[in-house]
Amino acid sequence: MGERVVEVALGARGYKIYIGWGNLSSLGEKLRSVVVSNKAAVISHPIVADLYGEKVVGGLREAGFETHLLNVPDGEEYKSLEVASNLYGKLAELEFHRSDCMIALGGGVVGDLAGFVAATYMRGVPFIQVPTTLLGQVDSGIGGKVAVDHPRAKNLIGCFYQPRFVLSDVSTLKSLPEPEVKSGLAEVIKYGFLEGERLLSFLEADLDSLLGIERDVLVKVVAECCRMKAAIVEEDERDLSGRRAILNYGHTVGHALEATTGYTSISHGEAVAIGMVCAARIARRLGLIDEALVERHVVLLGRVGLPTKLPISDIDSIQERILLDKKSQGEANIFVLLKGLGKPALVEVSPQVVREALEECS
Ligand SMILES: NC(=O)c1ccc[n+]([C@@H]2O[C@H](COP(=O)([O-])OP(=O)(O)OC[C@H]3O[C@@H](n4cnc5c(N)ncnc54)[C@H](O)[C@@H]3O)[C@@H](O)[C@H]2O)c1
Ligand SMILES: [Zn+2]
Repeated sequence: MGERVVEVALGARGYKIYIGWGNLSSLGEKLRSVVVSNKAAVISHPIVADLYGEKVVGGLREAGFETHLLNVPDGEEYKSLEVASNLYGKLAELEFHRSDCMIALGGGVVGDLAGFVAATYMRGVPFIQVPTTLLGQVDSGIGGKVAVDHPRAKNLIGCFYQPRFVLSDVSTLKSLPEPEVKSGLAEVIKYGFLEGERLLSFLEADLDSLLGIERDVLVKVVAECCRMKAAIVEEDERDLSGRRAILNYGHTVGHALEATTGYTSISHGEAVAIGMVCAARIARRLGLIDEALVERHVVLLGRVGLPTKLPISDIDSIQERILLDKKSQGEANIFVLLKGLGKPALVEVSPQVVREALEECS
């Protein structure tokens, strides 16, 4: 299967997402067609740079770019203003100018951080996403949300800054640790429920190939997810109309769970998996979907090895957290729910129904 291309139609800010197997080697040539400068900085983590740095940096140099590899430490705690500031310093030292470009090579952490630096250094330099995690390829690498964390909240400081293109080489997922693959699959499955029967049935049939990182299935599924996210971003680039919010399916309970467990004992994908089951149970209680669709959540997520039950008995703290988050965002108890398979909508839910669904999930 050749490389797939998904367009993100945003007028002057529009761009292409390239999804392939082994297409990392085409980065230099693709970059050449969108930038005028001969200078590039690749921002990565040591682990990812060890695996793919040579290929990326070598390819860029071959295409005539003066290329600098800038590593940042691995981990969410380094998605910070301090690390961003170090990068500004290094770019200035290397005499980077407005037309020189920055490339994020790695997962969502490096993508968000490098994107934020690219958006703000000299009021914005050309930026390329090269996501190497499944989450990065189907979610964080697309759509232009860039940010760093603040001690008070995750992603508190950021902006919208679209990349010039996104290059996803799904063969890089072969080296991704299994828990990270599974975590990314929670988001993939999320797209399945949002899209409808076509994608969901495909995922149900080909899950084993996905787990086995098989080329053709992976290229197809990542491209499908990108197409969905691109369509939603095109409708609501800046997350204002509520359309982009549907990508938060499963994330209300998921975020509350991550926060109450201190972001350590549970991965984002695990939290979202449980959150989707809770959302499905809420929808079931409101008569929006039937039990069979709830069961499809539980079965598919279970096959991946993702949890589908609340791990802690303290439902009170989760519910409190949900109310707190909603209030701080100025929302009533609004959830992304399915009004049938492939029919997501924003629905107001009473605390009582949330409570009952949470109890059912534990
Ligand atoms: N901007 C957005 O729209 C958006 C959306 C969702 C999530 N996010 C952000 O994404 C971040 C999470 O991203 P993530 O899940 O990709 O985690 P991550 O970036 O921390 O990557 C996970 C781990 O995998 C390693 N890794 C990456 N690629 C690898 C590869 N091919 N082989 C081996 N190891 C590899 C990394 O070094 C890291 O240790 C969070 O900060 C979150 O806020 C952003
Ligand atoms: Zn998510």
